[in-house]
Amino acid sequence: VVNVRLVELTARNWRACADLQVQASQEAFTRSALYSIAEAQFYPNTTTRGLATPEGELVGFALYGWDEDAGCWWIYRFLIDRRHQGKGYGRSGLKLVIDDLASRPDCSVIGLRYHHANVAAQKLYESFGFGQLHTDGDQVVATLDVTTGAPALSSRPRALPTT
Ligand SMILES: CC(C)(COP(=O)(O)OP(=O)(O)OC[C@H]1O[C@@H](n2cnc3c(N)ncnc32)[C@H](O)[C@@H]1OP(=O)(O)O)[C@@H](O)C(=O)NCCC(=O)NCCS
Repeated sequence: VVNVRLVELTARNWRACADLQVQASQEAFTRSALYSIAEAQFYPNTTTRGLATPEGELVGFALYGWDEDAGCWWIYRFLIDRRHQGKGYGRSGLKLVIDDLASRPDCSVIGLRYHHANVAAQKLYESFGFGQLHTDGDQVVATLDVTTGAPALSSRPRALPTT
């Protein structure tokens, strides 16, 4: 069983987190961890977390929180370092992110976006019950109703400008 932990970013670990890199072919699919750490400074209600192995190695990054525009909880960024992909860390970490959001007050729907050609993201998200709500250009907007584990197809999160 693969175990990762969600860890807060600190003065000790933020550089390791900022250094996380996706595969070159995935760079069009996501902003970097470094960009996301900078971006999050201006959204104090968002949660930034590193994904760490039991030994403490940083292998991934997540940025999530309440989205006022969408009117639901949102996963803005989720990535695993290229050297650590395909080992189950993404599945293990996404479960923790969903559990964290599902424990927030009034959390029923979680939304996210991914590039339509991002097959790994699509497969991962669909395996957790996310389903396509609509498309926005080259982006798929998908939702999960955490109370049913099925797509929240009746909700209408607005498409957000950022990915
Ligand atoms: C998507 C991502 C987070 C998956 O992380 P990962 O640690 O490699 O994923 P895991 O090893 O835990 O695999 C989980 C599931 O993802 C899917 N998946 C992962 N890599 C895949 C690939 N190359 N092709 C197809 N599906 C893939 C599979 O459904 C897999 O489940 P399975 O092994 O039971 O079939 C990772 O590829 C990544 O960081 N990509 C770049 C950033 C990104 O695109 N993030 C999402 C943007 S919204």
